[in-house]
Amino acid sequence: MDKQPQDIITMRVYHPNDFEQVKDLFSLGIVGPGSPGRLSFRLSYTHQYTFAVYMVLALGLWLSVSSMLWSITHYVGLLLVVLALGYLVWIFVKVRGFFEGYRLACLAEDLSDIPGYYKLVPSPTVTTAMGLTPITPSGFWVVEAHSPQSESTRKIVGCVALDYSLGDSTSADLRRFSVLPSYRCKGIGSLLLRTVVAHARCHRLSKVHITTTSFQMNAVRLYARHGWIAQPMKPVTSIGVLTFGHVEMDLPLR
Ligand SMILES: CC(C)(COP(=O)(O)OP(=O)(O)OC[C@H]1O[C@@H](n2cnc3c(N)ncnc32)[C@H](O)[C@@H]1OP(=O)(O)O)[C@@H](O)C(=O)NCCC(=O)NCCS
Repeated sequence: MDKQPQDIITMRVYHPNDFEQVKDLFSLGIVGPGSPGRLSFRLSYTHQYTFAVYMVLALGLWLSVSSMLWSITHYVGLLLVVLALGYLVWIFVKVRGFFEGYRLACLAEDLSDIPGYYKLVPSPTVTTAMGLTPITPSGFWVVEAHSPQSESTRKIVGCVALDYSLGDSTSADLRRFSVLPSYRCKGIGSLLLRTVVAHARCHRLSKVHITTTSFQMNAVRLYARHGWIAQPMKPVTSIGVLTFGHVEMDLPLR
């Protein structure tokens, strides 16, 4: 079983050996269990208007099966089936494309060179060759877990980044925040948030900012519990019955 409640948890700065695990962890946060990708599919396919499409599909099937072959009613039934199925497939393709496009864009952007983008350099205080440290307000951290019995089977169960290149000189953006589904609700997300905020305070930033979405209410609730202030949701785009919106949140530090 994946879940290891007695695991020993360590927070540290990212190093390049973590890349494959961080990539998978980030991808799970976008399209895995409890992710905005999964929630969007669920909301799309359980929306009341989508139930009307299911009824059109059922009606079409009934008409095409119960009417005489090649009659007008038969063709009307087939048309309804094609239209209803077409809509359901269109929703799938659009929602998948939206999240997959975002995931691939992130992997091609900062995640393609984490030490370079987040200015992580070899640490003078860490003796291992791979030890890195952030030299600017930017940074990338991971949480590593291993069982007390087997220290060699370490795995990355959480990650977060602070990006100083997006805002003005007094603020930075929290990004790439994800915890492995089986390790959620144990305080790992809170630990990552506190690490980022402590780093931002060390660099005397006046605020930390995040752009999250209307499909990440778990995260929005968590930020709010840590004192972050949300602005009203801004609609970005619509796919079928769903409206995708951004929620901007700030944590003032002074
Ligand atoms: C958002 C996310 C990173 C939070 O990580 P997490 O490790 O579950 O965070 P925490 O455990 O600190 O807090 C989550 C909840 O568990 C609760 N919790 C914390 N420690 C706990 C413990 N020991 N036992 C039980 N519950 C606990 C917290 O109170 C919090 O409750 P809330 O939802 O009512 O605020 C995680 O859900 C995730 O990866 N989601 C998918 C990706 C995503 O949406 N990322 C955010 C991008 S903006």
